[in-house]
Amino acid sequence: MKESTDAVWQPVEEILNGKSVVLGVTGSIAAIKAPAIAALLRDAGAEVTCVMTESAEQFVSRQVMEKATGKAAISQIFAQTGTAQQQASGPREELTWHVHLARGADAMLIAPCSASAVGMLRAGIYDNAVLLAAASLPKGTPLIIVPAMDEDMWLQPAVQENIAWLKEHGTFAIEPVVGKLASGLTGMGRMPEPEAIVRRFCGTIGQPPDGRRPGTLDGKNVLITGGPTYEPIDAVRFIGNRSSGKMAAALALEAKRMGAEVTLILGPTVRFPLLESAGILPLRVETAEEMKHAVLEHLPKNDIVVMNAAVADFMPEAKAEKKLKKRDIADQFGRATLRLKRTPDILASIARLKKEGHIVVGFALEKGKGSEAYALGKMKEKKLDMIVLNNIEDEGAGFGHDTNKVTIFTKEGKPEPLPLMTKEECAVLILERIAAVSGERSSLAVRRSQKRM
Ligand code: CTP
Repeated sequence: MKESTDAVWQPVEEILNGKSVVLGVTGSIAAIKAPAIAALLRDAGAEVTCVMTESAEQFVSRQVMEKATGKAAISQIFAQTGTAQQQASGPREELTWHVHLARGADAMLIAPCSASAVGMLRAGIYDNAVLLAAASLPKGTPLIIVPAMDEDMWLQPAVQENIAWLKEHGTFAIEPVVGKLASGLTGMGRMPEPEAIVRRFCGTIGQPPDGRRPGTLDGKNVLITGGPTYEPIDAVRFIGNRSSGKMAAALALEAKRMGAEVTLILGPTVRFPLLESAGILPLRVETAEEMKHAVLEHLPKNDIVVMNAAVADFMPEAKAEKKLKKRDIADQFGRATLRLKRTPDILASIARLKKEGHIVVGFALEKGKGSEAYALGKMKEKKLDMIVLNNIEDEGAGFGHDTNKVTIFTKEGKPEPLPLMTKEECAVLILERIAAVSGERSSLAVRRSQKRM
């Protein structure tokens, strides 16, 4: 029998077709992305009704939202001529539009959800159309909020506490990512791109067959490697590469947010203060040998290994203890020869030690045509459960960029090309995919053990 994870990672159309979605838009500059979110939901077959605050109208007009949803939008608690409330069947319905709208909804998405809207939801103050609709959702109808704000606002203890409280009480949050903010600064608080929001929204409302909440790594131990390795030539020189470690930092932060216990092994990179504030203290290594030892030491207690490091493939055959002098190594024509040997293949060692239930994910950095076949070959050769292909020919993808464009290959399914997105958004989707594979494997293991009993 083909063991597929498709039921968990369903195409968005399968989840959204025929669904009724209330899209709440509040006053954050990210509201300019709301028409794109509405269009994506609608393209996937959902019926979308937009409810917006007056502040949201400062950034996107009601007419634009109506065009994107194909339906009248609501921006006031009390009816205005030509609005959805006015088109209700009678005066009672006109006044209680929020009840009817919420009762007919399969889910509500508030994107963006401003800091004030977060606070009011937590405090139970429902004095605008969006909050009123959210407050009227029957128990069991999912509410998903997408907070978006400036970094300093995002870091306010009140905002953090309000979001934590809302999550504890059943609201789902698609958290912001690091990126360019409306203020011109770069930092945490940027709303993810519409594609990423719609995918995560679907992950939340889609019903996996075993009832497990998708997108969670609760109780999992995840080992992540990242950054380059430096292979020393002498006391000051080395062979290395331009990997920044940004992708691994994003993966570690997101894995932790999804509930995992994270071990991060990093090659030489800059410091990532966000990791420290999230309580992730990277284990620092320099060479491929050191990385291999650290990985193998931590392998037994981890369920999932994500080998994101750009491990150098070669190292000098011998390292000179002192700084080499030019005159000592150059021949009469000014040439010098450096003999190299292969570094240990860490993934190959993991493959040898891999136990049932372990999930091992590799990365491939390739260029141009044929890279898909190459990634698939590498997945088989290294006995991986998943490989993430980074096609460096795609603009904005690869080393040093803040964005990435990847295709995810799993043993079970079709290749999943993702659009260009920030490394943080990419981390979310890669980890959700890993969580889906991991959840599917666990339920398979339970089914197998039940069969044996
Ligand atoms: N990797 C590893 N140990 C190494 C080198 C790479 O575990 N010594 C891992 C990387 O972390 C990554 C994957 O293997 O997950 C990349 O595979 P690799 O064969 O190194 O790919 P390339 O170097 O891109 O391939 P090639 O040089 O063979 O084209």
